[in-house]
Amino acid sequence: MPDSASSSILEKVYTSTNNNELEAAYDEWAADYDAHVTSFGWKSPAVVAGLFGRYVGNRDARILDAGAGTGMMGELLMIMGFGNQIGIDLSKGMLDQAQKTGAYTELRRMVLGEPLDFPDNHFDACQSIGVFTAGHAPAASFDELVRIVAPGGYILFSLLKDISDEGGFQAKFDALASEKRWELVEKTPDYSALPYEDPDIIHNSFVFQVLA
Ligand SMILES: C[S@@+](CC[C@H](N)C(=O)[O-])C[C@H]1O[C@@H](n2cnc3c(N)ncnc32)[C@H](O)[C@@H]1O
Repeated sequence: MPDSASSSILEKVYTSTNNNELEAAYDEWAADYDAHVTSFGWKSPAVVAGLFGRYVGNRDARILDAGAGTGMMGELLMIMGFGNQIGIDLSKGMLDQAQKTGAYTELRRMVLGEPLDFPDNHFDACQSIGVFTAGHAPAASFDELVRIVAPGGYILFSLLKDISDEGGFQAKFDALASEKRWELVEKTPDYSALPYEDPDIIHNSFVFQVLA
């Protein structure tokens, strides 16, 4: 069972009211994050790693880990043979942990929802896990992600079901689809993302393909 320290930092993360508070909460959590979320039964990295292997065949693909955190996903993808990964995150403390994985060619502090310092079509794939959740990165982040992933490339991410409508995510997904910027390839069924912490936290994971 999760201890009170892990539950209290989780509470801090999910009640942050702005990016400064959120960054401070993740900086504080960074050293213990992997142990805590593993004890919560954190499922999204496994789900999205499976989807990633299903759709991204080229192991030399240029990959963005958007909201890389401590590098849990980057490390899984490295083990699967993907060696060309760049990670970005709001929290320097989390990026310092990610550095230790050896999974990334580059790690940079950048904020989703703001302009990203990459050229158009720079990546072949982007994955973003646990980042589109309460009080975290906004739906507007996807305008930049579709800009920097090349046509034919994939964007894979998890989303907290509760904010799909109220956070404007479904509206953003529909708008980008009607503008022919991307199309939905796969959406998982609902799953309990942190079953040993709170089984009622439901996520879906998505795969979109960027269009020309
Ligand atoms: C729940 S953690 C997930 C980390 C990692 N993707 C994983 O699967 O373990 C969420 C991460 O998103 C980052 N984050 C939250 N909002 C962000 C934003 N607007 N821009 C960039 N990173 C953000 C946090 O700093 C944190 O490292």
